[in-house]
Amino acid sequence: MSALFVTGTDTGVGKTFVACALARALRTRGIRVAVMKPIETGVTAEPEDAVRLRAAAADPATLDEICPYRLRAPLAPAVAAELEGRTVDVDRIATRIVQRAGSADVLLVEGAGGLLVPIRGSITWLDLAVRVSLPVLIVAANRLGTINHCALTARVAAAAGLTVRGFVLSEPSAARDESASTNAAAISALTGLRCLGMMTHAPAGDGPAPPLAVEAALGGAY
Ligand SMILES: Nc1ncnc2c1ncn2[C@@H]1O[C@H](COP(=O)(O)OP(=O)(O)OP(=O)(O)O)[C@@H](O)[C@H]1O
Ligand SMILES: [Mg+2]
Repeated sequence: MSALFVTGTDTGVGKTFVACALARALRTRGIRVAVMKPIETGVTAEPEDAVRLRAAAADPATLDEICPYRLRAPLAPAVAAELEGRTVDVDRIATRIVQRAGSADVLLVEGAGGLLVPIRGSITWLDLAVRVSLPVLIVAANRLGTINHCALTARVAAAAGLTVRGFVLSEPSAARDESASTNAAAISALTGLRCLGMMTHAPAGDGPAPPLAVEAALGGAY
């Protein structure tokens, strides 16, 4: 299967934005894309990330298939689930990921927050990615502090035996600090990872996809 786990260095750094851009770039090449946001928190009506991902990928699956767990509190999944007296079934998510990967050419899976966010007790996104052998794409905000956040994420993923395909820097905010022009090179020099895209701030939100190294993100599969 060709699948990719889109993780971030934090919440709100651009995971959904980048995953949607990747999905659109794949679709323009005639590649069938499936998406998953296995757990979305802070959901009071529709799961916004899952809806955005489904639209970008033109994934015909139901929202239940794409996002089996929707939790109300805007907290880490394990914490939000506990507040509702629910338990996330990690095996069920792992099985669903494998099934969904078989339904398309590429499956993009977005986590919630970063790699060490708990999804059930002390089980984290990292554990799930390891269980299903998902290669990782790291998304980070292009601002001061991102070198450390990217390096920590890359090191944790590599120590767990995951393949890290590279990183993408996004700009959720129009405000740029002085580090924005040097972060990518500094991260590559420190981690040996390739920068697969620089998503400069697009004022209209999900606009036309800026260039992304799609082949490298998918390990050369396309
Ligand atoms: N390059 C960009 N240009 C314009 N808007 C962006 C860009 N990157 C991110 N955003 C916007 O910033 C906000 C946060 O981005 P996004 O939702 O992708 O983050 P996330 O990491 O998926 O967050 P979460 O942890 O909630 O899933 C969104 O409104 C998104 O549209
Ligand atoms: Mg998101």
